[in-house]
Amino acid sequence: MLMKIRTTVSATAMLVLTVFFLSSCLFQNPDGGERTGIGYNKGYAPDQPIAFSHELHVGTHKIQCQYCHNQVERSKSSNIPSLATCMNCHQQVAGKPGEEAVAGHKNTDEIKKLRDAYNDGKSIEWVRVHMLPDHVQFNHQAHVTKGVSCQTCHGEIEKMPKVTQYSDLSMGWCVNCHRQPENKASLNCTTCHQ
Ligand code: HEC
Ligand code: HEC
Ligand code: HEC
Ligand code: HEC
Ligand code: HEC
Repeated sequence: MLMKIRTTVSATAMLVLTVFFLSSCLFQNPDGGERTGIGYNKGYAPDQPIAFSHELHVGTHKIQCQYCHNQVERSKSSNIPSLATCMNCHQQVAGKPGEEAVAGHKNTDEIKKLRDAYNDGKSIEWVRVHMLPDHVQFNHQAHVTKGVSCQTCHGEIEKMPKVTQYSDLSMGWCVNCHRQPENKASLNCTTCHQ
């Protein structure tokens, strides 16, 4: 009985996916122009409300990824740190008023934005860089605990003053890595699609 339900469910899922696939072929850009929108945005690097630099925090000050993205090993998705995490340091690290911002040093205007938001109980509306379509299941924990490094998928974040999408996040990208014998990762459609 249970088996039957499961088969029906996955058959339905496949049908939906197939229809989706066919319809997306119909609407493909005839001159093969690069697709923008969800996923595929390799090189995407939007401006952020505060000029937060991974190069400065991770490269220069050697702060571990998990100090800020502390859910990455425990949950399906990673997380952007809350202001409270920033304020662990920026209660002290602030620069003096009137002090001029020099490359990589005490950009007081940016830190002031941070403190004002914190004092007003607001949060920062970070602009999302990576985004998979809703029909795809991705799981950070599964990858990080198998020893796939952040840089394999995100590139050298520690050298980025501004986060840039490094991989294209296409299905081919996922599947090519899953296919490597040493990874023993599943190629079943339902691993990544439900
Ligand atoms: C001091 C805190 C801090 C540390 C340390 C840090 N990050 Fe971040 N990270 C952030 C913040 C804040 C954002 C959101 C703003 C932005 O995109 O720059 C972010 C964004 C990101 C994004 C883009 C998220 C999206 O919107 O798609 C990735 C990927 C990322 N970090 C990876 C890493 C990796 C890998 C490391 C370690 C090499 C790391 N981060 C270390 C604070 C941190
Ligand atoms: C573990 C300590 C630590 C944490 C946590 C931390 N920072 Fe920083 N941050 C620093 C240090 C150190 C500097 C460099 C200050 C200097 O050069 O004197 C800095 C500098 C900055 C600057 C100035 C950049 C520039 O170009 O001058 C900004 C903006 C900033 N941080 C934002 C953030 C945000 C947003 C968060 C939270 C997501 C955060 N920081 C978390 C330690 C930290
Ligand atoms: C196997 C590839 C892979 C690895 C390894 C990986 N990521 Fe990601 N990361 C992704 C993908 C794909 C997304 C987009 C997820 C989505 O849109 O649902 C993402 C999104 C993010 C985001 C944005 C928030 C979110 O969860 O969507 C952050 C922050 C992030 N990753 C940080 C990290 C850090 C830190 C590490 C290392 C500890 C890491 N990632 C390792 C592929 C990876
Ligand atoms: C650099 C290699 C690599 C890339 C790129 C990659 N994966 Fe994986 N993936 C793995 C490995 C290794 C495992 C763990 C296999 C195992 O269970 O031992 C895994 C496991 C998974 C799992 C199983 C999670 C679980 O709970 O068992 C899912 C789902 C998944 N990947 C989705 C994706 C998606 C979606 C993408 C692309 C957006 C992607 N992966 C890109 C290497 C990769
Ligand atoms: C390792 C993860 C993974 C596996 C396994 C996987 N997919 Fe995907 N699939 C993705 C990702 C990521 C996307 C979104 C990016 C893209 O469209 O390339 C996607 C997109 C799709 C799309 C939408 C394409 C479009 O143009 O919008 C279809 C249809 C699809 N997959 C069908 C399948 C089928 C059928 C299987 C099994 C033979 C399968 N997928 C196995 C990760 C996976």
